[in-house]
Amino acid sequence: ALAGLAGRNLILVGLMGAGKSAIGKLVANALDLPYVDTDHEIEAAARMTIADLFVQYGEPEFRALETRVIERILTEGPAIVSTGGGAFVNPVNRALISQSGLSMWLKADLETLWDRVRRRQTRPLLKTENPKQTLKDLMDRRYPVYAEADMTVLSRNVRKETVTRDVLKALA
Ligand code: S3P
Repeated sequence: ALAGLAGRNLILVGLMGAGKSAIGKLVANALDLPYVDTDHEIEAAARMTIADLFVQYGEPEFRALETRVIERILTEGPAIVSTGGGAFVNPVNRALISQSGLSMWLKADLETLWDRVRRRQTRPLLKTENPKQTLKDLMDRRYPVYAEADMTVLSRNVRKETVTRDVLKALA
């Protein structure tokens, strides 16, 4: 499976709840590569949670930090990198990603995404009157951009191991 990656990063993109972190960890394990989560690195750099970052500094500041962290992580690779749902939307980040590796969109339907995000109330973008509708709006706006990823794998509502196998197959 390493043939397709050839020493480059694998960057997982897609909406909140698509399984980027869970699948990323399993893929990294299978390929014996480091796993890095951009949201986690942002929280470590800022020494606060993403939710607090949004409240105290606002989304633009979060996005600026996100780009700096992505740039650093991709330079330190090769690794399996999971990104926050908004990362690939920024053309600057897309350029950094395509220069340093393969991007893979974990594509999921609304019900699958909603089923996964509703359990955790930590996402600042979903603190709205109707979070499911917000998720749907984000799907409509972002899916055309995610479709620019090098590869797409369906992240269905099945066992993580099944999606992981599909990712490894796509890389082979
Ligand atoms: C965001 C997704 C989150 C996090 C931030 C913004 C987005 O990451 O980066 O809350 O814009 O979709 P996950 O996709 O890991 O939830």
